[in-house]
Order: sequence, then C-alpha cells, then structure tokens
Amino acid sequence: MTYQVIARKYRPAKFADITAQEHVTRTIQNSLRMGRVGHGYIFSGLRGVGKTTAARVFAKAVNCLKMMEDPEYLQQVTEPCGECESCRDFDAGTSFNIAEFDAASNNSVDDIRMLRDNVRYGPQKGKYRVYIIDEVHMLSIAAFNAFLKTLEEPPPHAIFIFATTELHKIPATIASRCQRFNFKRIPLEDIQRQLQLVCDAEHITVDSDALQLIGRKAQGSMRDAQSILDQVIAFSAENDHEGSISYQGVAELLNYIDDDQMFAVTDAVTEHNPVRMLDVAQFVIRNGYDEQDFLEKLIEHLRNFLVVQNLSSTRLVERPDAIRDRYQRDAGNLSPRSVMEMVDFLLLTQKELKFQFEYQFRFELALLKLIDIVHPAVPQKKKSLTSL
Ligand SMILES: Nc1ncnc2c1ncn2[C@@H]1O[C@H](COP(=O)(O)OP(=O)(O)O)[C@@H](O)[C@H]1O
Ligand SMILES: [Mg+2]
Ligand SMILES: [Zn+2]
Repeated sequence: MTYQVIARKYRPAKFADITAQEHVTRTIQNSLRMGRVGHGYIFSGLRGVGKTTAARVFAKAVNCLKMMEDPEYLQQVTEPCGECESCRDFDAGTSFNIAEFDAASNNSVDDIRMLRDNVRYGPQKGKYRVYIIDEVHMLSIAAFNAFLKTLEEPPPHAIFIFATTELHKIPATIASRCQRFNFKRIPLEDIQRQLQLVCDAEHITVDSDALQLIGRKAQGSMRDAQSILDQVIAFSAENDHEGSISYQGVAELLNYIDDDQMFAVTDAVTEHNPVRMLDVAQFVIRNGYDEQDFLEKLIEHLRNFLVVQNLSSTRLVERPDAIRDRYQRDAGNLSPRSVMEMVDFLLLTQKELKFQFEYQFRFELALLKLIDIVHPAVPQKKKSLTSL
C-alpha cells in the first residue's frame, strides 16, 4: 500500500468537516439553499486553511444530483451527498466539472486565453463547471485584463473561484465582480482537535501536550500542522516508538527549546543572577540552538508575562497547564514596565544580530544586559522595581 500524506488522506469531503471557517461555509450553504449561486468568488487567507478544500466541496455541491432532485435534502442537509454519480466522479477525481488552474505557473495571457476558450463549453453532465484558479495574484495585469470580459459576462454554467494568499494584489476590477471570503487562521484548539482525530483514526497514541506543540509550530495552518504530524509519525517509527508520540519526541524533532530555559532567563533577571544567565547562554550555544530562534521564543515568553499581568489570567497563554501555572506564579516577579523594556531591547538585538558575525558573544552580552535593564547598576532615578 502506498503511503498517503495526512493532508490528502484527511481532506474534508463536506462543508461540515471544514474546521473554523463556518463564516464561509454557512454563507455558501445559505446561497445553495436559496438557489443564489454567484459566478465569481475570491477565497483569501493563509496557506493551508481550507481554501482549495472549500472550493472543491462547493464544486461538488453545485453538481450533486441529490441536492438538485431532492428539495427537502437541499434545505435540510445542504451537503454533497457523496453517493450520486456526480459526487462519485468528484471523489474519484474524474469529474469534468471541475478544473483547477495554477496561476503561479500558468500566468501568461496565452494561458488565460486557453482557459477562456475552455470556459465557453458547458458541462456534459451536471449543472456547473467550476474553475478554481489558485494563487491568482500571480497573474500578470495583461492576463487579468484578458480575463475581465469573461468575468463580466460569464456563461451561466461557469463558476470561478479565485484563491489567493495575497488579496491586496488582486486588481479592483476583478475583486469588485466577486464575492469575497476571508479564511481565518485556524485556532490552536481546532488544530489540536483535528490532529487528535487523525491520530485516533491512525491508531496512534499521543499526549495532548505533544499535539499542542505541533499546533503551535503550525501557526494557524492546518496543512502545516498535518505535515509536521507526518514527520513526527515517521520520526517516532524510526526511533522504535511506532504507534505512540511523546512530547519529548516532538520537542526533539522540532528542535524545540524547552520552556525551562525561558523561565531560567526571567529567574536570572528577578534574582539578579548573572551566573545563571550565562548558564542559559552557554546552554543555547553548546546545544547548537539558533540564537535568533531563542530570542524569538524569549520575546514570546515575555509576551506571556504581559498577558498574565494585564488579564490576571492565563487564558491566552498557549501552553500546557503546568507551564500556565508557572506563568501565573512568576508574573508578579517583574513589573509590566520592565518586561516591556526587555521586549524593546530584544527586538532591537534581534535586528542587530542579523548583521553580526561574532554573535555568540553578543548574544551572551544581550542576555546579561537584561538583568541590567531591570536592575540598573547606578539608578538614575530612585525607583524600586523589585518591590512591584
Ligand atoms: N479548515 C480546515 N479544516 C480541516 N482541514 C483542513 C482545513 N484547512 C486545511 N485543511 C487540511 O489541509 C489540507 C490543505 O488544505 P487546502 O484547502 O489545500 O489549503 P489552502 O488551499 O487554503 O492552502 C487539506 O487537505 C486538509 O487536510
Ligand atoms: Mg490551495
Ligand atoms: Zn451527490
């Protein structure tokens, strides 16, 4: 049996399975119920959030025979049935009523002319022919113009779905003729839940902290999360843990710097302890972690301090419970103001390190400087920060 990557194997086949984009799927389902399907749509949003998936489900839905023939089903279910001849063709990838066009590699005027000529012919079976034009922002202006006429007077059987990660690059002449849907970044809980479903279906045991780590790394993209999961599964099998995924394994694979190191930095600052700070710097350098990554994580760590200080709650801290408790406990050790000052300094340091060669040494100094920011050696004004 050939291995199919998770992103393809678990691509949603109906609207209800598309996570976190209800604002899009519901509107589309309403328009199907009311029989008011448009001819031009723009699906915009980050990579891997369901644009192509939603476009395919939509194409399947407008051609589903059950949806066309059974008004009650249309009103109450409003999903492609998955069983009629048309749905089966779609699922097998043999339907002629869907055409996917990658604008990133076919962006010339000639390509568009070919597409335009193709659009003239209606479907042999079914009602609509759906053209999904991916990465549409890559089209040249001339190509857009060649297309404009078609979009102004589309044949009744044609539906165009333009997918893009860069909405602002689409000319207003095109955008104004389309219904626009903005796909959201997928919240961490939803990604985690989806990954859990995949692991259950694949008979893999996994701890929820491990899934959270994968989800955080994916930053809102379901496809990224699923690709990381593929990698993690392969990695676990290689290391003799087939069928189970641990937090440690994921952390190792992603070269994840442990939260302990982040707390060691804030502890060193609160304790006014340069020796401890140098230990952290050495840990990073010795283990070959990327200094920039470390600074990025440290900024996120300080952001979590600010969140807890401002909200008096760890609700917005995306960490396992034990770590959240630690934030709750430590947030009072530093004043919001000194945390802000550290963040400002780290942002600057990040920029400066980019242009340095000897940056291990500068990295150490930068960490030491954090202590100084919070406890200035010679206070200019008398203020007691530690008492805050
Ligand atoms: N909202 C979502 N709900 C469930 N799975 C999703 C979602 N978005 C993406 N995926 C998963 O990621 C894969 C890639 O999604 P895709 O729709 O091609 O992303 P996009 O076109 O936005 O880049 C899908 O096959 C599916 O497995
Ligand atoms: Mg896509
Ligand atoms: Zn059907």
